[in-house]
Amino acid sequence: MKQGLVLDKVVLLGRTLDEYRRSFALDPAAWRGRVVLDVAAGVGSFCAEANALGVRVTAFDAIYDWPAEDIQKRCGPDLDQVVRAMEGLKTYRWGFYESPGKMRVYRERAYRTFLEDYRRQGRERYIAGRLPRLPFADRQFDLTLVSYLMFVYEDQFDYEFHKQSVLELMRVTAGEARIYPLVTFEAKRSQYLDRLQADADLRHIRFEEVQTDFEFLANSNWYLSLRRRD
Ligand SMILES: C[S@@+](CC[C@H](N)C(=O)[O-])C[C@H]1O[C@@H](n2cnc3c(N)ncnc32)[C@H](O)[C@@H]1O
Repeated sequence: MKQGLVLDKVVLLGRTLDEYRRSFALDPAAWRGRVVLDVAAGVGSFCAEANALGVRVTAFDAIYDWPAEDIQKRCGPDLDQVVRAMEGLKTYRWGFYESPGKMRVYRERAYRTFLEDYRRQGRERYIAGRLPRLPFADRQFDLTLVSYLMFVYEDQFDYEFHKQSVLELMRVTAGEARIYPLVTFEAKRSQYLDRLQADADLRHIRFEEVQTDFEFLANSNWYLSLRRRD
């Protein structure tokens, strides 16, 4: 029987810049003026907040051809669903957020900041589409981030999806791509990680698992760093 969070679909939840900073051990100030892609950015506020700091972030998500009103309608119910489903689970560490109520404050701040920026910046900054295809040029971005889509939703996306996504992320990235977290909602290391690293079609990519000091979902204190070997 499952011990962790059970979700029947990919939910519309968003994290703030502060949470991205911790999850990816990222210093936004060091990326000022650089070109960054946030894949599956959802209703997170990293893109809005980082742009305000001078980092040139583009956000990409399957929902960005929806009107803001339709996205807004999903934010509250999806958040309620997750907060309810988390109650009593042993797969979460509450050191940082302290309680579901305080975590909710972060998530609400993220989606409100996102919605404001989405209404203002529209299609310039928020690009619609679906992995494993990205509508961007080769090596367009210095840094590409993927938070809470790959690995964690292992039940909903197969190995081929992960493999094609890794290839596509590296096609559009000149420097480094980071994927977070490396565990499923059961807090277990994704079964795809070792397979990707052993896949001959990906031998031009160097994989490095990097430890951080941020853990909410248990064992999520690691991200995957991808760089081209050449
Ligand atoms: C849990 S949210 C993560 C949001 C944000 N990255 C974060 O960490 O807070 C997952 C997002 O993935 C998006 N999504 C689902 N399938 C996708 C796909 N194939 N390509 C791009 N985005 C997808 C959903 O629309 C949703 O916004």
